[in-house]
Amino acid sequence: MTYQLPADSRLVQPDFIFGVATASFQIEGSHDSRLPCIWDTFCATAGKIRDASTGEIACDHVRLFREDVALIKSLGVDAYRLSIAWGRVLHENGELNQQGVQFYIDLLDELIAQHIKPFVTLYHWDLPQFIEDQGGWLHRDTAYKFADYADKISQALGDRVYSWATLNEPFCSAYLGYEVGIHAPGMADQAKGRQAAHHLLLAHGLAMPILRKNCPNAEVGIVLNFTPAYPLTQSLADSKAAQLADDYLNQWYIKPLLEGCYPDCFADLGAATPAIQPEDFEIMQAPLDYIGINFYTRAVYESDGAGGYRQVDLPDVPRTDMGWEIYPQAFTDLLVDLTRRYQLPPLYITENGCAAPDELQNGQVADLMRVDYYQQHLNAVDAAVRQGVDVRGYFAWSLMDNFEWAEGYTKRFGIVYVDYPTQTRVIKQSGLAYRNFLQERSKR
Ligand code: FCB
Repeated sequence: MTYQLPADSRLVQPDFIFGVATASFQIEGSHDSRLPCIWDTFCATAGKIRDASTGEIACDHVRLFREDVALIKSLGVDAYRLSIAWGRVLHENGELNQQGVQFYIDLLDELIAQHIKPFVTLYHWDLPQFIEDQGGWLHRDTAYKFADYADKISQALGDRVYSWATLNEPFCSAYLGYEVGIHAPGMADQAKGRQAAHHLLLAHGLAMPILRKNCPNAEVGIVLNFTPAYPLTQSLADSKAAQLADDYLNQWYIKPLLEGCYPDCFADLGAATPAIQPEDFEIMQAPLDYIGINFYTRAVYESDGAGGYRQVDLPDVPRTDMGWEIYPQAFTDLLVDLTRRYQLPPLYITENGCAAPDELQNGQVADLMRVDYYQQHLNAVDAAVRQGVDVRGYFAWSLMDNFEWAEGYTKRFGIVYVDYPTQTRVIKQSGLAYRNFLQERSKR
């Protein structure tokens, strides 16, 4: 089994980067001196995580990282996308935690020794709890704390990192964490969501020149997620609803970085209008070497009859185990639309994948739905590239099954199966197909 792409596809050229991705809280475990983060607190709050699980052990990656790098190597990928736990590398007094820093040095050195390019994200949602206690992303000072963290860790890791990302999916941190409350820290208030979003984007902008200065040979960018918005009908009301949802949920996080302003619906925020300093948009517009795009699904909207939008669940469409519609055309549409709309830097697909109810049977995981998902989405990227989109790489989410946030361990996204009681890893059919595909590519 393998993935197929036409011989003239940009994606099979040798310089196109293929990788796998993970994030610190989802795999590492906390059996060392890392500080508690907002997700530890959220997990300890009754009713927040579907299976009442925690990140305490997760994939025990801090202990098993050398085996995991060997596993990554065995897949034949060019790159590995990981994130750093802020509270593992800095003490509460702002000094580097040498033990935590050493873990990432060892991990990166192991990757480099195996010729795997490290793509490192600085913030994949695990804000140290003590910073949350001081106001978290609602507090402007957190953006400056983030810049200080970026400065210290990028100096400590030096030239080991091939590509830095400041933030992963500020939409999720701000909207899911502070506006609707289904993610840590679990606040549900529009004004808080908008303020958090602003400070996250400010944090990104402050960190950019620091990373560039400390690591002149690395690429520096940000990872954004998009759930393209489609109208339920072609009516004007539904079209406007979908456009509003797109502006509020997607464009909000990219437009300020590239054009120095929020989408038009900013004008209607009323009491939820965030505090903004005059220099903020200039800071946010720090030049980007790349933007990472995370794509999983689309969303369909209708008018709510009051000038707003309402999401509609279409009946009888294919869905993943998350309940997310499988609609690869939206991936092509998204990439083409962004390219038309903005002056974009090159893109990486930094996450794409699906959850499935995988089972280990006779030592194998026949995740054929996932194989099909990857094939369709690789085709969708290929189609976008043929329409002129500049995509430089593609990362499967995820290397291995892991802690899927509010869903705990109930959802499996890996191309490698994790048997949690024994911490055994088994490459699924989707992972074997990836390996075969990459092997065939390297033979060209
Ligand atoms: C993305 C997150 C990632 C993972 C996938 C399924 O939003 O960045 O950590 O949970 O969704």
